[in-house]
Amino acid sequence: MIVAKTEAAGERSLLPEVLAFTSSLPLDRKLLREDLVGSLAHLTMLARTGIVPRDAAQAIREELCKIWADGELSAEEDVHMAVEARIAARLGERAGLLHTARSRNDQVALDLRLHVRDQCARSLEEIALLAKALAARARAEPETVLPSYTHRQRAQPISLAYLLCGYGAMFVRDAEALRFVLQGCGALPLGVGAIAGTSFPIDREMVRKLLRFERLTSNGLDTVGDRDFALDFAYATARSLLHASRVATDMVDFSSAEFGYARLDGDIACGSSMMPQKRNPDLFEIIRGKSGQAVGNLTSLLVTLKGLPGGYNRDLQEDRAPLLETGPLLTSVLGMLRLGLEHVRFDPVRTLAAVESDFMQATDLAEALAQKGVPFRTAYQAVGRLVRACQERGLPLAKATPEMAREADPRIDAEVLRACDPRASIGRKRNAGGTGPDSVQAQIAALEADAEKASAAAKAVPRLDDLFSDLSKTELR
Ligand code: ARG
Repeated sequence: MIVAKTEAAGERSLLPEVLAFTSSLPLDRKLLREDLVGSLAHLTMLARTGIVPRDAAQAIREELCKIWADGELSAEEDVHMAVEARIAARLGERAGLLHTARSRNDQVALDLRLHVRDQCARSLEEIALLAKALAARARAEPETVLPSYTHRQRAQPISLAYLLCGYGAMFVRDAEALRFVLQGCGALPLGVGAIAGTSFPIDREMVRKLLRFERLTSNGLDTVGDRDFALDFAYATARSLLHASRVATDMVDFSSAEFGYARLDGDIACGSSMMPQKRNPDLFEIIRGKSGQAVGNLTSLLVTLKGLPGGYNRDLQEDRAPLLETGPLLTSVLGMLRLGLEHVRFDPVRTLAAVESDFMQATDLAEALAQKGVPFRTAYQAVGRLVRACQERGLPLAKATPEMAREADPRIDAEVLRACDPRASIGRKRNAGGTGPDSVQAQIAALEADAEKASAAAKAVPRLDDLFSDLSKTELR
């Protein structure tokens, strides 16, 4: 790419290699829409306050709208200069009025916030869809019983609905994290100039309202060097993709012959180029793999910011690659996870068989015994003896005979033994947050409500298209 340089950005004498090396245009081209919306708001304010004549503002606005429509830019140092250069090619000197009382430092801070705000809205929409899908699936398969795991060793029987609500709970926290990111993005940076403000009688409040920000940033020196909102977004994304990667691992495991709990539909299972029998869970492996990128992006941003002196530093331009990748990464992974889960078929016969062939109801037995007045630790030891007796004879706990039970502890009677039934085991969990059916029904309802909340939060975010359509025709007087 041959990068040109307008006089506006300083010396013409820069070595072409240096210019090409320091240009951010290949990346921040993606911020064009944000940049145009920001410029339209700034221009509107300049015209309305009389800082820039209205006819010039009108002419500049028409050019900004043309760029919005065709997206054509020549190679310049960055997206901001490329927009200015294109207007200058049409309007000459008058184009320069647009940059009155503005620096690229506050301009890029605005573009990035607008970008993160928009991406948060998209991500919240995806989370809402995922949470809704998990809740619907939980409602559709309430009867499926499967083992839960601690230390990846069989632990206690749970319902599939409970597992799905557990996944949902993670993503609901991600929606909360994104709402926090949105709050951080709520301060308008534009108007602080390069670092110290401007002597022009600008009206930041007007720009704030036009761009629908909640407040103004309070200090320009801080504003131009602040990328906390980017860090927060990258962290929320990394955390969400860690969640996705954990769900993905469950699907990889559950669809293996070793677990045998689920089957992947043919349209998401990938083959092998050599082994004809394979049905590989590549989709879930890629989801898991992509979480590494999100962690990398967060790390990259953190390291870029570490130790920077106050104010703007050009290092900040290196936020572009990790930050611009973050939003699309999050939405695509969440979308694919939702799609992938739709194509996972659990096998209720095999999952139940796994529970029945094991000792996962041991805790239920101990609790049933303790509920008869035996101290829990004593009950725990008694059931431990029964488990060992079963293991010696190669029997699952469900097949323990009343004689074996009596031998372990005479107080393990028929009533206590009934707790061995996997469904009874699940049914006995009545506490909030447990796998019992009533609790799970409440969890599903909460998940649905949280999905609605995420979707409402997404809808409340001002979107670039809407801002553009308002700003392209708003009064300049
Ligand atoms: N391309 C720059 C960036 O993205 C814009 C700000 C440049 N400011 C400056 N004074 N050189 O960070």
